[in-house]
Amino acid sequence: MRPYIERAEAFEGWSFPQIRTRLLEPGPPWDYEAIVRECARKAKSAVDLGTGGGEFVAHLRDALPSRMVATEEWHVNAPVARARLMPLGVDVVWCRSLQLPFAEESFDLVMNRHEELSPSDVARVLASGGCVVTQQVGNDNWQELRRFFPRMTDFGDIRAEYTAEFEEAGLTVRRNERHDYRVAYEGLGDFVFMLLVTPWTIPDFNVDRDLDALLELEDECSTADGLVLTWSRFLLVAEKPA
Ligand SMILES: C[S@@+](CC[C@H](N)C(=O)[O-])C[C@H]1O[C@@H](n2cnc3c(N)ncnc32)[C@H](O)[C@@H]1O
Repeated sequence: MRPYIERAEAFEGWSFPQIRTRLLEPGPPWDYEAIVRECARKAKSAVDLGTGGGEFVAHLRDALPSRMVATEEWHVNAPVARARLMPLGVDVVWCRSLQLPFAEESFDLVMNRHEELSPSDVARVLASGGCVVTQQVGNDNWQELRRFFPRMTDFGDIRAEYTAEFEEAGLTVRRNERHDYRVAYEGLGDFVFMLLVTPWTIPDFNVDRDLDALLELEDECSTADGLVLTWSRFLLVAEKPA
């Protein structure tokens, strides 16, 4: 486990080329990137919430409006995102995702992949006729873990909550889809790395203290494909009336 722990301790940005996973079932039927590209075509300004190291925004830069802002809350990643995105003409703001430091109606497009959000605050910063596109990790993600880690965080039904709150804030929800699929991690170390870099998953996760539970998980969930776990994703697209 040591190399994985050391790698996690040095982790920054948000990409995982070294983590070996294989889909055992088809991924989501939607294409988040294509949806963002489509919504960006009519946007004059956009913000990406929780941009990580800015990788996705950098990848899409040419398709995004010239007035482009990214937010990042984690102190480690804010400067990483800034270094990547400032040369591309993207402003990076170090701030909380749930309390956005922007004026009402600032953006035509709010994009958010796998970052927490406040639907009412998103609705507030969206301009009339604007659109929010978000892909989220559902509460059933890595559901196999809960048996071995009963203290795993329970986020509740955030899909239902976000949908209701967008509607309460006056937005029209255009797409609301969920997809669960099985994925194989090549080994326990790959998965432990992911647990370490997503510290919100299991409070106070510690490889030494939690080793017995990890080994039980490996025993129960390993197949010829590797360590098999469920990924759960959902997509919401909502519009603010013009
Ligand atoms: C799941 S990441 C998604 C990043 C980006 N939106 C993407 O899809 O590539 C969500 C947020 O978690 C932050 N984050 C990553 N590791 C963290 C850590 N150890 N503690 C707190 N936040 C972290 C990231 O910087 C990012 O803003």
